[in-house]
Amino acid sequence: MHKIPVGVFGASGYAGRELCALLSAHPHFELTFATANAQRGEQAFLGGREVRFIATDDAPIRSAELIFSALPHGASATWVERAQEHGARVVDLSSDLRPGHTKQNIPYGLTEVKRDSLRGAEVIANPGCYPTAILLSLTPLLERGLIRPESSIVVDAASGVTGAGNSPKPELLFGEVTENYRAYGVGNEHRHLPEMRALVDSYETNADLLFTPHLLPVARGILATTTVQLRAPLEEPLTIWRDHFAGEPFIEVTPDLPTLRDVQHRNVVRMTVRAAAGMRVPTLIILSAIDNLVKGAAGQAIQNANLSFGFAEAAGLPR
Ligand SMILES: NC(=O)c1ccc[n+]([C@@H]2O[C@H](COP(=O)([O-])OP(=O)(O)OC[C@H]3O[C@@H](n4cnc5c(N)ncnc54)[C@H](OP(=O)(O)O)[C@@H]3O)[C@@H](O)[C@H]2O)c1
Repeated sequence: MHKIPVGVFGASGYAGRELCALLSAHPHFELTFATANAQRGEQAFLGGREVRFIATDDAPIRSAELIFSALPHGASATWVERAQEHGARVVDLSSDLRPGHTKQNIPYGLTEVKRDSLRGAEVIANPGCYPTAILLSLTPLLERGLIRPESSIVVDAASGVTGAGNSPKPELLFGEVTENYRAYGVGNEHRHLPEMRALVDSYETNADLLFTPHLLPVARGILATTTVQLRAPLEEPLTIWRDHFAGEPFIEVTPDLPTLRDVQHRNVVRMTVRAAAGMRVPTLIILSAIDNLVKGAAGQAIQNANLSFGFAEAAGLPR
């Protein structure tokens, strides 16, 4: 059967490697080139096969019908444009084309929310990893207008170190990260905020968003704890989440508290919701977990590419 030829920009990075590994098992996509920067010319064993990285400048863009860009933000947009000029469809994993970062109206690949705009899309802005975990778990409230006006949505989330990419940084050395736990981007300044703000603001709410990320001494996974004040108490919040996501292949609503181990290497968001006891204002605590490299990056990107090409949305994805 004819497979769609696919290129990956930034294939030597964490997200790019995950893409190459997932593509090796995809029924309709086939990797034809994989680019790197410092690691150009090197080889890696990904998804059970050797992949040789070439310089992005040398990529035979014309040979690909689909390109995933896993380049750093700032570097990605130019290559996305070049790929489009050569007639390829593109899924961009960087923040360059996401809402809050560009005035262009690019389909935003938060699949379960934006599915209709992704079918047949020529270019897709894949969401960030934290936004994927946080926004999906909030949509049952956002869509129903249940969030208390003038309140703050408070998110504390922790990510494994692959979320920071694989270029060397002193603060990410093993000795700094292991047996340690710390916050970063404190002061509501993280670069994922504009994209989260844009989606929240697209619903009828004037709630603020306060986000504090933390670094976990593990390789992969995000656990987000989101605290939301409500207009009125909810009898059975879990039922609302269950109804909202009924039939979704990659959303798991569970009465148990989700853990990283539940989601690692899987293209899922696993979430639960609990009412907070002893509060004057009715308050919910939502917990959601994802693998930042799968549902938070490469997996969701392939889910979106499947929609773009009209394949089964779950094709080639690990559940
Ligand atoms: N890591 C995650 O959990 C995650 C989740 C969602 C989205 N993303 C997004 O996905 C993208 C990749 O993230 P990552 O974590 O995989 O980063 P990374 O590990 O730092 O990888 C970056 C990739 O881009 C290449 N590269 C760097 N600068 C380049 C340039 N100027 N021109 C051409 N190639 C260049 C690197 O090549 P060399 O390694 O050979 O230098 C590497 O292949 C980023 O935009 C990131 O925001 C990442």
